[in-house]
Amino acid sequence: MDTFETVKISGVRKETPTVNTLVLDKRSCRMEYGQFYMLWIPGVGEKPYACSGANEKSMEITVKHAGPFSGKLQNLKKGDLIGIRGPYGKGYFTPKGKNPCYVAGGLGIVPMISLLEGTKGKKATVILGAKTKEEIIFADRIKKTGADIRIVTDDGSAGIKAFPHQLLSGVIKEKKIDSVYCCGPEAMMREVLKIVSEKKIPAQFSLERYMKCGIGLCGSCALDPSGLLVCKDGPVFDAERIKDSEFGSYKRDSAGSKTRI
Ligand code: FES
Repeated sequence: MDTFETVKISGVRKETPTVNTLVLDKRSCRMEYGQFYMLWIPGVGEKPYACSGANEKSMEITVKHAGPFSGKLQNLKKGDLIGIRGPYGKGYFTPKGKNPCYVAGGLGIVPMISLLEGTKGKKATVILGAKTKEEIIFADRIKKTGADIRIVTDDGSAGIKAFPHQLLSGVIKEKKIDSVYCCGPEAMMREVLKIVSEKKIPAQFSLERYMKCGIGLCGSCALDPSGLLVCKDGPVFDAERIKDSEFGSYKRDSAGSKTRI
């Protein structure tokens, strides 16, 4: 386990009207694709975030304004300091198949982009979903990998008017997909899980649950009924491990109460 450190923000990049990428002055990041870090803002709190890019000089975190913590995070400027610990959890396994498909909704592409960029030789297809044209992120990075990108938007302002899972069955048939990697809104991931289970295609899903400790101590991220910990056993899980769980039905909030997906 890496220790806690305080790092400086060396730059901020606007990705969409509601999404920023923070460049952190953090060197020598050793992580598996899909692992996460706990970010800490003094007086505000601590939350898990996936890394959206790293090199020998820096690492990047991509943030959407979705609540008080992410709002504060988004407002940080170049030169500000932030606390960070990690990386934690288990990431994606490198694709074994020849024709992987990545299914991403909203910021779901964030924990998968490094995997895609790190396995450029694979003939990947990416189904990239966003609410609107303005909210599409990382399309240029995806294109640079040589992947076949299929864009869908909720309102039809770019690509096809659809949700990502609605394209999946057609893509599986057309591209002979032999592995699937998925992250995004859980209702969408639940539909992807149904499709891959029916077609018996190996798949991995990156899950999000309320996390307090991030290291397997508090139990706040446990999945019913198995007790699998998203912070330690995940956040990336094989389809087989989550298909008979709470996944796709409900999750727990900070008080431990169930909220429907
Ligand atoms: S966040 Fe504490 S056990 Fe997972």
